Amino acid sequence: MQDTKTAKAPTSPVRHIAFIMDGNGRWAKRRGLPRQKGHAEGAKVFDTIVRACFARGIEAVTVYAFSTENWSRPEAEVNAIMKLMGQYLRYAEKTLADNDIRIIFIGSKDRLSPALRKKAEAVEEKSKHKTHILNIAFNYGGRDELVYAFRQLAAEGKTDITEDDISAHLYTAASPALDLVVRTGGDIRISNFLIWQSAYAEYYFTKTLWPDFSEEELDKALSEFGARERRFGGVQ
Ligand code: IPE
Ligand code: IPE
Ligand code: MG
Repeated sequence: MQDTKTAKAPTSPVRHIAFIMDGNGRWAKRRGLPRQKGHAEGAKVFDTIVRACFARGIEAVTVYAFSTENWSRPEAEVNAIMKLMGQYLRYAEKTLADNDIRIIFIGSKDRLSPALRKKAEAVEEKSKHKTHILNIAFNYGGRDELVYAFRQLAAEGKTDITEDDISAHLYTAASPALDLVVRTGGDIRISNFLIWQSAYAEYYFTKTLWPDFSEEELDKALSEFGARERRFGGVQ
């Protein structure tokens, strides 16, 4: 029998990982399905991968689920994504007692429907004492986040602003420094994601479409991270 007093949770050299979960639409198109089906499949993979990250000892996971620019998509697609997020939050609320995940919405809740906003706030509140951080970037934009941080600092009357002040006012303030950003779908860009936090993060780009992303590929990204030399501007 395992001694629960001495059994240690795994730790990972990656403390904070982020995913740009891209390629849902193309995954559906290749199968002759509506884009919405790709998002539904992507939502399942999202749950699997988030759990896999925590099982590997990663402390914080940030997922890009809906950007400030994604409102420009057809209404039916936007509505489908909103509905999927509502479903995920109901599922997260129901399974709250079975896991140790703290859900934090990063991005502005201003444009969300009152019902979705209420559900997001309820799940944030109910999970706030949990250990593993899941940042859901929803109506999130890196530029929008910086404007939000600067406005907060201005409202506090702060003038002598430091880098630490800015970091402390970002939506991700509760998370450790970002180590690794994974983008699926084949595009080599950051699309307004974590622009401040990724200053010294490592990137892993893969052509795999998000609904095809797997635990095996997660392990490949983590092992590639382990083989990289992070110099942070210094010399080895
Ligand atoms: C990412 O998949 C999910 C969201 C942006 C909501 P896409 O919907 O962008 O999929 P592609 O890039 O069109 O294949
Ligand atoms: C980035 O993907 C946003 C999300 C994954 C939520 P997009 O598909 O919106 O990015 P672009 O338009 O290709 O840059
Ligand atoms: Mg895309």
